[in-house]
Amino acid sequence: MDPTPVLSVDGVTKRYGENVVLDGITFSLAAGERTALLGENGAGKSTLAKIIAGSTRPDDGGIAVDGRGVRFTVPRDALAAGVSFIPQELVYVPALTVAENISLGAPPSRFGFTSPSAMIRAARKYADIAGFDLPLDTPMADISLAQRQLVEIAKAVTRQARILILDEPTAALESEDSARLHELLGRLSASGVAVILISHRLEEVFATCDTVHVLRNGALVRSSRTADLTPSQAIADMLGHEQSSTAKVDRCPSDAPPRLEVRGLRRTQAPILDDVDLVVREGEIVGLYGLRGSGADTLAETLGGLHPDAVGRIAVAGATMNRLRNPRQSWRAGIAYVPADRKSQGLVLIDSIRRNFTLPDLRRVSRAGWILRRRERAVAQNLYTRVRVRARSIDQTVGELSGGNQQKVLVGNRLLADAPVLVLHEPSRGVDVGAREEIHDILRGLADGGTAQLVVTSDIEEAVLLCDRLLIVHRGRIVDDIAFPTRADQARALEAAGGIQ
Ligand SMILES: Nc1ncnc2c1ncn2[C@@H]1O[C@H](COP(=O)(O)OP(=O)(O)OP(=O)(O)O)[C@@H](O)[C@H]1O
Ligand SMILES: [Mg+2]
Repeated sequence: MDPTPVLSVDGVTKRYGENVVLDGITFSLAAGERTALLGENGAGKSTLAKIIAGSTRPDDGGIAVDGRGVRFTVPRDALAAGVSFIPQELVYVPALTVAENISLGAPPSRFGFTSPSAMIRAARKYADIAGFDLPLDTPMADISLAQRQLVEIAKAVTRQARILILDEPTAALESEDSARLHELLGRLSASGVAVILISHRLEEVFATCDTVHVLRNGALVRSSRTADLTPSQAIADMLGHEQSSTAKVDRCPSDAPPRLEVRGLRRTQAPILDDVDLVVREGEIVGLYGLRGSGADTLAETLGGLHPDAVGRIAVAGATMNRLRNPRQSWRAGIAYVPADRKSQGLVLIDSIRRNFTLPDLRRVSRAGWILRRRERAVAQNLYTRVRVRARSIDQTVGELSGGNQQKVLVGNRLLADAPVLVLHEPSRGVDVGAREEIHDILRGLADGGTAQLVVTSDIEEAVLLCDRLLIVHRGRIVDDIAFPTRADQARALEAAGGIQ
């Protein structure tokens, strides 16, 4: 007979207005089981995770931990019952240091009266358990999105939960950090912790999880052992039909004029940039791939105007500068920058989709300082269709959208600019397989129209699928340049990124 499951979800239903977001979800989880929750953007994964973690309440149905029914009213109740949750949109205190944020997760009794050095020691212990090397005394505001994600994981470790839920923890992690995370999850599950992983990266799901649950439009359409399922069956379950695979476009070397040219770019503060040269031509999509701290992120952020201390020669569509002082200057120079962290840099969550689409460039929809409502709606509606956001209408609040649909709004709002150069930082972070292809199609279309694109991604598969050329960054330098990458080049790219030539 089966032992009592550590978690049972019984008929959980959730509605937002007319919208049935979860429809009678029932499944259970054994101690030490690693399960994946799969589904398209908006399928209801995060909502289900939030209900299990006590931050959202179901309209119907219930949860039992160790066979006992529980009714969480606040996340603290769930924590007390042994449920720890790392949400998709990270919650942290930007002004506090990494160590302080990690300690926030720990039981207060232990950190009741400690000195800053004791706190750093404790935080280091948890970071070590997690296997991460983190800049403990740096404020959260100053570290990368990937590092923030690792901090959240370390924070979850401090809570010593018995059920750990991770909502897309690897969406912005490069392969080495993902591998470390999965090692950690392996150790935790061996010690009896049940893990629920939400991920769009099917490869990692199939490599690490025991079971999968697939949600489609709020219904649970498949519960299966991973061993009894193939990734393409899982995709078919997610979509409700077979995936139409889009063949890779034919590409030929470009002799088009450069649109973005960077020469001798240097930054002495870590992560450093060491004499970076790169060119992106009209109509070209160039990928930038590097491990955490390699400088790939820094390079993208520099082009977005976020690192005025990086100095060199930056030419955009003919105009030359020796640095970009702020995001405004970068925008004016003709660079549309899509940041990695949509929450802190990219979107106004309390505003509508329409506003988020038109805010970056209000001049387009206004005359003499007045916003032309009809023009605004038309422009927004057009973008909404182009990036295929799934929402009730352009008037829905962005904060109510699923993570992947927020990402589409973020990409869309930069498309409006029709800038000659597009710098995209993790453009498909957290979007599902289908939507990723949609975003890639859009970027391809823009490239065909002449836009030069630099795409920084931690997803090597994306880099290979999308880019005409792939640059590998290691220790602030570009160490490899792969033209027309294919899957066969993945190993070469990973080695170069790891400093192996
Ligand atoms: N606060 C809210 N108000 C209204 N609707 C909401 C709210 N939160 C979520 N929804 C809706 O619930 C549905 C499911 O969203 P959810 O975030 O659970 O999707 P998801 O499966 O996590 O998708 P993703 O892969 O994009 O993160 C979406 O249609 C979303 O718009
Ligand atoms: Mg989600």
